[in-house]
Amino acid sequence: MRRVRTRATVRVTVVTGAGQGLGAAIAGALADAGHHVGVLDRDGDAARQVAARLPSAVALCADTTDEAAIEAALDALGATPTVAVCNAGIVRFGPLLELAERDWRAVVDVNLTGTFLTARAVARRMGDRGGSIVAVTSMNGVAPGPNAGGYGATKAAVGLLVEQMAIEWGPLGIRVNAVAPGLIDAGMSAPIYTDPEFRELRASKVPLGRLGTADDVAAVVRFLTSDEAAYVSGQTLLVDGE
Ligand SMILES: NC(=O)c1ccc[n+]([C@@H]2O[C@H](COP(=O)([O-])OP(=O)(O)OC[C@H]3O[C@@H](n4cnc5c(N)ncnc54)[C@H](O)[C@@H]3O)[C@@H](O)[C@H]2O)c1
Repeated sequence: MRRVRTRATVRVTVVTGAGQGLGAAIAGALADAGHHVGVLDRDGDAARQVAARLPSAVALCADTTDEAAIEAALDALGATPTVAVCNAGIVRFGPLLELAERDWRAVVDVNLTGTFLTARAVARRMGDRGGSIVAVTSMNGVAPGPNAGGYGATKAAVGLLVEQMAIEWGPLGIRVNAVAPGLIDAGMSAPIYTDPEFRELRASKVPLGRLGTADDVAAVVRFLTSDEAAYVSGQTLLVDGE
């Protein structure tokens, strides 16, 4: 584990689900901005590989649905976080009439409960020192999408949770926002875009004429966690090329 720099200006950050995909890009963008990053993932090897590429980072192996594991990971971070990105998420596609109960429960557990447990654990540690929390939701949480009923419901719930947390924790100086990515050619969606025809079709539906990237999302998370967004809280910012 690398030593945490103690200068007051260094922001200590935890990014969940950072072992790959959007989370890895977000961890990289925040590390580039000078943060010491806790790269948290339930896949410890993936977290270690990402952390090893960053200038100041520590790998944290934890499942965000397990409150005790989150607490242990935050202890291992070595300092109180000033920024947290609740990015860990899973998808289980299918029409609601056929969605298995275990799949429904899995997305609720990781996407909603995991986000709540992580954000609350971090906010308790931030206390009245304040900080910034960003949840990664989805365009499917803003409007229904085909086969995304279970997933979209969890993301919509996180959108409301973000507003609630912003109201309750604003007096502590904690800002809470969400980023809702649209059609992104990365992470969990990358496999569906290997078909060039489908890729072209989806890109043609986006007014800006292209699919989004993990870096497009990471840049907005970086903005929301920065002092540039010091008066922004309780918002969901769509990153969808529209
Ligand atoms: N990729 C997209 O197109 C897209 C679009 C909209 C929203 N999102 C959201 O962005 C976030 C990241 O998605 P991605 O595409 O990078 O996914 P991904 O599957 O590529 O990566 C997710 C990472 O999270 C980890 N993870 C999953 N559940 C976890 C848990 N309970 N505890 C700790 N780690 C866990 C996985 O091990 C993995 O490393 C998710 O919340 C997802 O819903 C993604």
